[in-house]
Amino acid sequence: MDMGKRRKTALGWAMVGLTGITTLARAQSSDVPADPDTRAASTERQMSDDERVRLTHGIMAVPYLGSKIPAEAPFGAGYVEGIPRLGIPALTETDAGLGVGYVGGLRKDGATALPSGLAMGATWDPDLIRAGGAMVAAEAHAKGFNVVLAGGINLVREPRNGRNFEYLGEDPLHTGILAGAAVSGIQSRHVISTLKHFAINSMETGRQFHNAVIDDAALRMSDLLAFEIAIERGNPGAIMCAYNRVGGQSACGNDYLLNQVLKRDWGFKGFVMSDWGAVHGLDYALSGLDQQSGAQLDDKLYFGGALSTAAQNDPRYRARLADMNRRILRSMFAIGVDRDPPTRAPIDVAAGAQVAQDIAERSIVLLRNRGGALPLAASARRIAVIGGHADSGVLSGGGSSQTQGEGGPIVTIPTAAGPFAAVLTQSYQASSPLRAIRARSPDAEVIYRNGRYIADAVTAAKHSDVAIIFATQWMSEGLDAPDLSLPEGQDALIAAVAAANPNTIVVLENGSQVLMPWLDKTAAVVEAWYPGARGGEAIARVLFGDVNPSGRLPVTFPASIAQLPRPELPGSATVEPSFIGKGKPGQTLDVDYNIEGADVGYRWFARQRATPLFGFGFGLSYTSFDHGPMSILPGRQPTARFAIQNSGKRAGADVGQVYLVGTPAGATLRLAGFQRVDLKPGERRTLEVTLDPRILATWRNGRWQILAGSYRFALGRSATTLGSPVTVKLQGREW
Ligand code: BGC
Repeated sequence: MDMGKRRKTALGWAMVGLTGITTLARAQSSDVPADPDTRAASTERQMSDDERVRLTHGIMAVPYLGSKIPAEAPFGAGYVEGIPRLGIPALTETDAGLGVGYVGGLRKDGATALPSGLAMGATWDPDLIRAGGAMVAAEAHAKGFNVVLAGGINLVREPRNGRNFEYLGEDPLHTGILAGAAVSGIQSRHVISTLKHFAINSMETGRQFHNAVIDDAALRMSDLLAFEIAIERGNPGAIMCAYNRVGGQSACGNDYLLNQVLKRDWGFKGFVMSDWGAVHGLDYALSGLDQQSGAQLDDKLYFGGALSTAAQNDPRYRARLADMNRRILRSMFAIGVDRDPPTRAPIDVAAGAQVAQDIAERSIVLLRNRGGALPLAASARRIAVIGGHADSGVLSGGGSSQTQGEGGPIVTIPTAAGPFAAVLTQSYQASSPLRAIRARSPDAEVIYRNGRYIADAVTAAKHSDVAIIFATQWMSEGLDAPDLSLPEGQDALIAAVAAANPNTIVVLENGSQVLMPWLDKTAAVVEAWYPGARGGEAIARVLFGDVNPSGRLPVTFPASIAQLPRPELPGSATVEPSFIGKGKPGQTLDVDYNIEGADVGYRWFARQRATPLFGFGFGLSYTSFDHGPMSILPGRQPTARFAIQNSGKRAGADVGQVYLVGTPAGATLRLAGFQRVDLKPGERRTLEVTLDPRILATWRNGRWQILAGSYRFALGRSATTLGSPVTVKLQGREW
């Protein structure tokens, strides 16, 4: 944009924002600031004392909490009143990590459900994730929202964590790159995005009070690094702090996380909003919190009158209050929510569904394919489809991220009573795998058994050429899984079906990693995650070979629970699972993350020399790929150059994964860069991937440090299948 145009636009905004003629005249005659910081500062200066605490708190915009919901507020997670006199719009907030939130059925208008976070992580494809973000933001905008509570990026440290399906994976670089793309897609539609939950919100047990114990260096090199990379790439308008404590301090009142790391070290210019019900004191403002969200869920409205009084009496609060407002305004202006207000309009259902299907098709991971059992042979005459409500739809995860198309879920199985019952219901999206399978096999007899009785499923499998069994693991916000089994006897069901028919294909719809005690007995295993609005079609297209599977695992699948850093889930014996429970006064639950430290997931397995069931980065294809050779170009930002060739007969996609395997300090294993590539049969491409220097560095004494010496890299098919290492000498440096 040239400067002249920029000025004019800025003047345009000022005119929209100001009402009185005198003010308008002043705005026109003075040189209206174009940049969001200056605009934010000048707007903040015009606020009255009352107005100064308007943007600093919001309500949860649902009727069942007893508060009056303003007519202009669409049902959704949050509403923050605007200041029309100054042209400042209200903030209308919806959950939208996996699509615009369904709010437990309060919204009947339907939105496109994306596949789960781990599914998106399995695509390793930032462009696709950016498109997903843009689609969701367009739908949010058309439903009256200008803020989406998206960007769930807690690293998967704990496979039993109920919310892993909202997150992207276990590696900070992979998560940071994909989350940055999601945010940039969202904000391209003039909708503010959050990244959440800051930080180390890795399990749901004692979710409102558990305390993450971890050293600064380990945290900087893992969970914080994911946020740092995502913030740099996506420039989110807001960060949502977490429920849990970190180092003994509530994450939303945490000076270290908010003031020191986020705002000082990373120079974050946006605002920090609390999670819903996560504010426990006025002094959180001094610790760096800028906005109290869903205030009905807290004990008090801290960031209203109490904050105003504090600001009149205490210069520290006065300064913070100005800063809080400026940060919120800055994000509004920088992202453009004021100049492109949400306008209610029908959403483009078909376009949204296509984006969801594209992501699902690229997210499905083929884990096992004995003797080319897949794609399904046209010769199969009788196919038994078993279990998982495959006749109706595909599973989705529970909690605030729930998204449903028009008409709502096709199958619902309640799990709880009370005000949040609908949010905690097992819900299936109306995309039937059975229907899609039938559509692709008109000459075969396709029978369905619900899998409730093993005997029934076994009989059906015995009399079929192939048995396709859909296994589900419902996971939810507020609830961790006790172990890594498939619930409700499904492991036994699969074992029995596989024993009855060796040509058994398992399709998993799961929230997080599971064990597979039946693996060796099956012909094929397809990891479909929670596959979203068009999940049934995507699964069928993979099964029949219309789509060549190309997903790669974004998490390590352990071979046993004993391999985990914490074989016993902390608090599982003492803490009652609760969606909103804040615990008894003073209740805490320390979770020792120093066990693995920065060695999350595959790095922990490498350190323990433990062999997982499936490694991070793993995934099969219907074609084959040759990798390498690889060379590393040294420099401040080293680059890996390598070739990948499709050596098979079908078009397909592969992901080049570059791992750091050795530093002057010794052996290590860290994903240092990656790139997904589509290749026709026989096609060979040379790829260049720049390597983030922080992956090569260690956080020491408050700085990143690269030691001078030899670094070894390997091209991996996964974190456990690495090519021969390439050595390069790097100069030492610190920053
Ligand atoms: C969740 C957030 C969500 C918020 C608003 C909380 O319970 O932790 O992820 O954005 O509710 O619905």
